[in-house]
Amino acid sequence: MMDKDIAFVIKSEEEIAARVAELADVLNKQYKDKDTVFIGVLKGSFIFMADLMRKIDLYCDIDFMAVSSYGSGSVTSGQIKITKDLTLDIKGRHVVVIEDILDSGLTLDYLKKYLMTKEPASLSVCALLDKKARRQVDVGVDLIGFNIPDAFAVGYGLDYAQKYRNLPYIGVLKPSVYSK
Ligand code: IMP
Ligand code: MG
Repeated sequence: MMDKDIAFVIKSEEEIAARVAELADVLNKQYKDKDTVFIGVLKGSFIFMADLMRKIDLYCDIDFMAVSSYGSGSVTSGQIKITKDLTLDIKGRHVVVIEDILDSGLTLDYLKKYLMTKEPASLSVCALLDKKARRQVDVGVDLIGFNIPDAFAVGYGLDYAQKYRNLPYIGVLKPSVYSK
């Protein structure tokens, strides 16, 4: 049913699964024997996180945060509010932030600064998608799933007006969907 709204697929289920397994391999090696906390940024990262974590073979903790950015439409205002905070203490621990997509970078920049105030032993970021062309702040990201062109992506956790998150692949909506 949702397929009919998609203009083209950016990343198929198979491509995503293969890349997620590669990312997990990197993290499994990097965080071996380290006290690690994976933090998923809701809601967009929930499917990526669920798939990634099942490939992570570490005695790690998992937590979630939710942030919202003020402003209208699909443009980030840069004013970010934490709507769900951590429940775990990350002081002295190795933190990996799991993000769906890096766009302007403003959300992640804010989040990284906030998390640094909690004094983790280290802080790194793993984002599934990167839209480099739209970056406004030079925020360091350690691990990227895919670089994608500047188009609005939906599926695999990513939404348009809260819909399409449950699409199993990543695609671009037909222009007719926006004008509804
Ligand atoms: P940033 O602060 O501009 O980097 O915005 C990042 C957030 O905006 C992501 O975590 C997404 O929730 C949302 N976002 C940015 N680009 C897209 C997109 O193409 N599709 C869906 N959500 C997006
Ligand atoms: Mg997000």
